[in-house]
Amino acid sequence: MQYAPVKGMNDILPDEIDRWYRLESAFRRVVSRYRYGEVRTPLLEHTELFVRSIGETTDVVEKEMFTFARPKGESLTMRPEGTAGAARAYLTNKVQSREPLTRWYYLGPMFRAEQPQRGRYRQFHQAGCEVYGDLGPLVDAEMLDMLVTFFHEVGVFDVEVCINSIGGEAARARYRSALTEFLRPRAQELSEHARSRLETNPLRVLDSKDARDRAAVTEAPSILEMLEGEDRQHWEGLLTALDALGTPYLVRPGLVRGLDYYSRTLFELNATSGELGAQNTLCGGGRYDGMVKSLGGPDTPAIGFAMGLERILLAAAAVPAAKTPFCVLAPLGRSAQLTALAVARDLRAAGIAVDLDGRGNSLKSMLRRADALRARLCLVIGDSEVARAVVQVKDLAGHSAAEVALGDLPGRIGELLATTPSPPEGA
Ligand code: HAM
Repeated sequence: MQYAPVKGMNDILPDEIDRWYRLESAFRRVVSRYRYGEVRTPLLEHTELFVRSIGETTDVVEKEMFTFARPKGESLTMRPEGTAGAARAYLTNKVQSREPLTRWYYLGPMFRAEQPQRGRYRQFHQAGCEVYGDLGPLVDAEMLDMLVTFFHEVGVFDVEVCINSIGGEAARARYRSALTEFLRPRAQELSEHARSRLETNPLRVLDSKDARDRAAVTEAPSILEMLEGEDRQHWEGLLTALDALGTPYLVRPGLVRGLDYYSRTLFELNATSGELGAQNTLCGGGRYDGMVKSLGGPDTPAIGFAMGLERILLAAAAVPAAKTPFCVLAPLGRSAQLTALAVARDLRAAGIAVDLDGRGNSLKSMLRRADALRARLCLVIGDSEVARAVVQVKDLAGHSAAEVALGDLPGRIGELLATTPSPPEGA
């Protein structure tokens, strides 16, 4: 009997991991320049944390959480996103009492019981940032500009930045009633799900993917027109700062996003080319100035984003993975195998990656495998090489060979690996 993986959950194998490392290290590199520090929070939190922060009438909370019961009535949930857990950690550790401005980033798996398809999984990986203690709008603009910089660094150029503002509590209350009034006479045109949300959470109707709902909201009132006072100043300040930076953006008054904790600035970065289809949102985020307080903390403005790493890897499909150069060590015979063990250890101690083929196969089969692995060099040691304290170094791309003394090994191999190109793909 063979076990299948859990639906929507994937293995990442060593031949794919190089691209993950490169993406993750590019993310760390870029956000470190902006002085974000890494936070690691648990994969499990109390269910109530997500219900309170993400919102009871959101898809994530209504249908997508992996939740299980523990004894004594405790209910735990696999984190569907990172913002709620980060805010909880910020409060648990009383970070606000030590620093007025906090910049955190995280990388890791998230869990949502969605219908899996290309770019949508039940276990997926996000990289995200959260800033606490800055009301903006300069930090909002800086964050968007950082995201554009990041996408360019990882080779994703076809990306559009969509922004909107949903104002503060009062603006949203005004907008909710305007939207409900607009939608009520059209209720029969809406999907059943949207109709059920009409009175409880009408903003969610704007976010629906159902064609009937999309058609019904085309003429819906714009929330941007309802912004007043500080909400309007914040929005205009954001546009001014983006213009000053020269960051391109598109204003999308229909953008509301699927989580209830947002206020004022909202944004999404979408891939405009490639094979992602409907799942082309690479990154989403926004301000959530009310969340920390609603979780029992002090009034703390906050803004953040998260990006889906699987989707970025799909969007960046054309970018080749850089392989760390390595050599294959091919010993022939028992005594050569023992010498090879020590040679491999010395090479590794000098920082050189070595694949020791100690299975006792023929030279031909070891060379074939070295070629298939796209190794740069194959080091062959037989009895005569052991006797003369040398190795045969075969350059697999150039089809040349040279004898190198064991005593010269780490240095000489290091030089050769640095100068020999990898064999071409498919060679
Ligand atoms: P979100 O829009 O739910 O926002 O997710 C952010 C990104 O995660 C999406 O744009 C997408 O790239 C990726 N993503 C979401 N669900 C899946 C899935 N099932 N499979 C693959 N990728 C997925 C948040 O999670 C917020 N916490 C972002 C945030 C941070 N807002 C403020 N701070």
